[in-house]
Amino acid sequence: MSTKDTSNSPTKPEAASPIVLAQLPYAENELEPVITAKTMSFHYGKHHKTYVENLNKLIAGTEYADLSLEKIITSTAGKPEKTAIFNNAAQTWNHTFYWKSMTPKGGGEPPAALKQKIEAAFGSVDACKKELASTAVSQFGSGWAWLVLDGGLLKVVKTANADLPLTTSMKPLLTIDVWEHAYYLDCQNRRADYVNGVLDKLINWEFALQNAN
Ligand SMILES: [Fe+2]
Repeated sequence: MSTKDTSNSPTKPEAASPIVLAQLPYAENELEPVITAKTMSFHYGKHHKTYVENLNKLIAGTEYADLSLEKIITSTAGKPEKTAIFNNAAQTWNHTFYWKSMTPKGGGEPPAALKQKIEAAFGSVDACKKELASTAVSQFGSGWAWLVLDGGLLKVVKTANADLPLTTSMKPLLTIDVWEHAYYLDCQNRRADYVNGVLDKLINWEFALQNAN
């Protein structure tokens, strides 16, 4: 390893500020039967972990090494030469947000303050869930379905691959991962079964409300 130049602002050693793999907010088996511990062990323990590890390798010793994850994402978005950093940073962020978008005792009725906003935008909670489900199922290939606030109004949008609303003016409230690695071990090709299971049993409306405030 080369000697650090300490003549200007203090430079942290390369390993001093890595992006950290966020802890799961629940045990790996707590989302069963919709998402099995086996899926969680691969999805969190391999896929998410690998995005974090790849990101740390890619940013080590670069201008991105000391930036927050959000800042890395927004400063590499739309730059073709930074695609690898953007993809791994965005996937790191997306997965942490996705884990929080679910909870073992999720689904059911949203809290009143969120329910009002949902009814204003979609007519009913069921209509909102239907739009989230159809958007998640219709995403061609890998990507994400999101409930977002756009100019104060709730909307459902989808993004491909690692893309995310953070690079737009929309504020993400919750997300559903529709990459095959999210459901293939449990549901094989039946993405709709996975998505409906998440919406009925796991979706964390409280988290969405926190993000809306
Ligand atoms: Fe994923």
